[in-house]
Amino acid sequence: EKGAYRHFMEKEVHEQPDSVQHTLSEYLDLVTGAAKTQAIDFAAVDRIQIIACGTAFYAGQIGKYAFEKYAGLPCDVEIASEFRYRSPALTPGTVAVAVSQSGETADTLASLTWCKAQGLKTAAVVNVHTSSMAREADVLWPTHAGPEIGVASTKAFTAQVSALLALAVAAGVARGRIGADEEAALVKALFEAPRLIAEALQMDGQIRAIAQDLAKATDVLFLGRGAMFPLAMEGALKLKEISYIHAEGYAAGELKHGPIALVDEKTPIIALAPLDEVFEKTASNLAEVAARGGPVIMIAPATAPAPHGDGIRRVDAPDCHPLIAPLVYAVPVQLLAYYTAVQKGTDVDQPRNLAKSVTVE
Ligand code: M6R
Repeated sequence: EKGAYRHFMEKEVHEQPDSVQHTLSEYLDLVTGAAKTQAIDFAAVDRIQIIACGTAFYAGQIGKYAFEKYAGLPCDVEIASEFRYRSPALTPGTVAVAVSQSGETADTLASLTWCKAQGLKTAAVVNVHTSSMAREADVLWPTHAGPEIGVASTKAFTAQVSALLALAVAAGVARGRIGADEEAALVKALFEAPRLIAEALQMDGQIRAIAQDLAKATDVLFLGRGAMFPLAMEGALKLKEISYIHAEGYAAGELKHGPIALVDEKTPIIALAPLDEVFEKTASNLAEVAARGGPVIMIAPATAPAPHGDGIRRVDAPDCHPLIAPLVYAVPVQLLAYYTAVQKGTDVDQPRNLAKSVTVE
């Protein structure tokens, strides 16, 4: 039931403080400040191969950044429809991890089955715990988003990201990369996510105002660096899916290698710019775009310094630890797509041509 909400998507976006909290509690102990020991011994793993489709693929890419940064564990992420048909060369110490809300996506399931047949250890980060992938994988890493009705994935995405970030911390501890103090600090940072997601939901009014303008655009660019790069692609996918506006997500540093040619006064550029180690780099990319007349919307904490240039509109996001920025910034990204679609009057929960679960190739 939608309750007081107009659409399931809106309801599901607002459920995220709870779904993230619930998912994190599966992997982390709030009381002891420790990551729970996992069925897979990360110290004995050489590489992680994540396989997924669509939004789950972007969650996987965010996971990759965390596994490599916090656990020093090499991690590849691939779209399942490519992975399954290209004869990937995998080494024996690799763990194959399928990421999927439904646990039934045909290409992801086939990739998982193939990896298992190759003798690899397999795991599945899935939201439907009775699904084919949950049964097929050696290890089930559940997400606790609850049933997701909207075709556009929102709370399942942040639950996937929560699980992967927590697992990356667990891997870092198991591999001796993270000491007890850092572990406690990272676990604390993760458990701050539900409160900061709730705070990000207060950006509603600011986002609604931006969406009025986005609804008039025919093309939109999303930019980010680090974990904000996959989130930029997720933002573009969300906008495409439900508002039917053409959108692309780019790594901000790639701009001058081509996409900057698209910049004009009619193409809004949404920048995801938390105050992290690459903030200054992103800010200078935005100054370049603004200098070429691009209307920039910078989503950043109010405490972040302003980039040079006119025409940069700011949307204030909560301050947060860089580890949880993809969870906190997912909210404005989802709300932008949502309010733009509402403004356009499209069918938010049942977008044209899309199915909730893609069980055929
Ligand atoms: O059930 P899955 O997570 O395996 O589904 C994967 C994609 O089909 C899914 O994320 C799709 O991209 C969504 N419509 C995105 O909003």
